[in-house]
Amino acid sequence: MRRMAIVLAAGQGKRMKSKLYKVLHPVCGKPMVGHVLDTVKQVNCERSIVIVGHGAEAVQSYLGETAEYVLQEQQLGTGHAVKMAKDLLGSEKGSTIVICGDTPLVTAETLEALTELHESNNAAATVLTAYTENPKGYGRVIRSEDGSVLRIVEQKDCSPEEDAVCEFNTGTYCFDNAKLFAALEKVTNQNVQQEYYLTDVIGIMVSQGETVLGYMTDDYAESIGVNDRLALSEAERLMRERINKRHMLNGVTIIDPASTYIGADVIIGSDTVLHPGTVLKGSTSIGEDCQIGPQSDIKDSVIGDGVAIKHSVLDQAEVGSRTTVGPFAYLRPKSQLGEDVKIGDFVEIKNAKIDNGSKVSHLSYVGDASVGKNVNVGCGAITVNYDGYNKFITEIEDDAFIGSNVNLIAPVKVGKGAYVVAGSTITHAVPENDLAIARNRQENKPGYAEKIRARAKAKKDKK
Ligand code: UD1
Ligand code: CA
Repeated sequence: MRRMAIVLAAGQGKRMKSKLYKVLHPVCGKPMVGHVLDTVKQVNCERSIVIVGHGAEAVQSYLGETAEYVLQEQQLGTGHAVKMAKDLLGSEKGSTIVICGDTPLVTAETLEALTELHESNNAAATVLTAYTENPKGYGRVIRSEDGSVLRIVEQKDCSPEEDAVCEFNTGTYCFDNAKLFAALEKVTNQNVQQEYYLTDVIGIMVSQGETVLGYMTDDYAESIGVNDRLALSEAERLMRERINKRHMLNGVTIIDPASTYIGADVIIGSDTVLHPGTVLKGSTSIGEDCQIGPQSDIKDSVIGDGVAIKHSVLDQAEVGSRTTVGPFAYLRPKSQLGEDVKIGDFVEIKNAKIDNGSKVSHLSYVGDASVGKNVNVGCGAITVNYDGYNKFITEIEDDAFIGSNVNLIAPVKVGKGAYVVAGSTITHAVPENDLAIARNRQENKPGYAEKIRARAKAKKDKK
C-alpha cells in the first residue's frame, strides 16, 4: 500500500522560551523534526508533507528537498493543520501517517508495526497510544467495554471519569488517506480551546461505523512530546541511551556510557573503544579497532581503522588508519592525515594534507600545507601562512626533515629529502636533498659567563 506522511510543525512552541523555533531544537545533535522525517522515511513513506507556520523558512531551509511543505498561516489546531495538506494529498489512495514534529523518539519499528496493524485490518484510523499513571496534558483514549477505541478527549475537555483514564494519545496515527480528509470536513472547534482537533476525527470515524484501532507502545520515550526544555533534556537523555545501546550491541565498547555523547548519525566500527568524555558529532564516521578518548570532541570527521585519539578536538578532519592523534591536538577543517601518521601534543593542523608515515610530534602549527610521506616536522616548527590579508601554501616533499623551531615562510617549498636545520627561518625554496640553514652562526666567548655574573652581582649589591 502507498504510504505518505504528514508532519505537524507549525506551532510556536512558546514554552521553549527560545529564539530557535521548537522543532529545530536538536536532540543528540539533530533537530527534532529531522529525527521525525528520518523515521517516516524508514517506513517507506513516498511523500512527506511538513505543515509549517512559525519559523517556516528556517524549517524549510533545514529540511530542504527531503519534504514538501504547506504553510498553515494561523494555528487553529491540529485538525486544521492536517487539512492544510488536502490540496497536495487529497486525491491520493493509501495510508497516511500523521506525526508531530516534537516527538523525536518515535521509532521506525513502532511506526512500522502501527502501520502494518492498520493496513492488515483495513482500518480507517490507528492511534499510537501509551500508558502512564499521570498522563497530564495528553488526550485520553476512551475505549468501550469490549476494548475498542471510541474517541479521544483532550484533557481540558475531560469529564472526571475521562480524566482518570491512563491510556493517552501520543499524537502519532495512521489513517486511510481518503477517510482522513473526509472526516476532517466534519471537525468543528466547539471545545474548550476553540481549536480544530485532529483527535475528533477518531470519534467521527467510529460514529460512521469505521474500524478504529489503538496500538499501545510500552516504550514511554516514544510518547514524549517536547514542549519545554525539561522535556528536551529528557528526550536528549533517552535518545543518548538509545544511541549508545545501539553501538554497544554493534560491537563498540563504551567504557562510560553516561559520559559519552554520540550524535544520531555517527557511524562506528566494531571493536572500537570509546573512553570517557568522548563527544562524537555530526556526520562523523569511525572505523574498527580505534581507541577514542578520553576527552575528545570529534565533529564531521572521517577516521580509519586502528586509530588512537586522545584528549583532542577534531573538526572536519580525515584521519587514516593506524594514525595517532594527541594528547591535546587540534585538527581543524580540511586536515587530511594519511596512514601511520603521528600527530603529537599541542599540534594544530588546518587545511593541510599530511601523508603516510609522517610525524608532527609536538608544539607545531601546520596550516595551508601539503606534507609528503615520512616527513619529520620537529618540535615547535611552524608554517607561517598568513600576512594579515592572504593565506599562502607550504609544500614539504617526501622524506624531508624539518628541524625544531623552524619557521617556513609561505609560499615556500622544501624538496624531497631536504634537511632544514633547527631554528631556521626559511624564506625561499629548499631544493631536493639540500641542507638549509638560515640562522645566525654561533659565537662563543670563552669564560664570559663569569664576567656577566660578576657584573650582575655588583649591580645588585650597589642597591
Ligand atoms: C496533541 C493532541 C493530544 C496528544 C498530544 C501528544 C490534539 C488536539 N491533541 O496535543 O491528544 O495527547 O498531542 O503530544 O491533537 N500544530 C500545528 N498547527 C496547529 C496546532 C498544532 O502544526 O494549529 C502542531 C504543533 O507544532 C505540534 C503538534 O501539532 O508539533 C501538536 O500540537 P500541540 O499543540 O503540541 O498539541 P498538544 O496539546 O500537545
Ligand atoms: Ca505537544
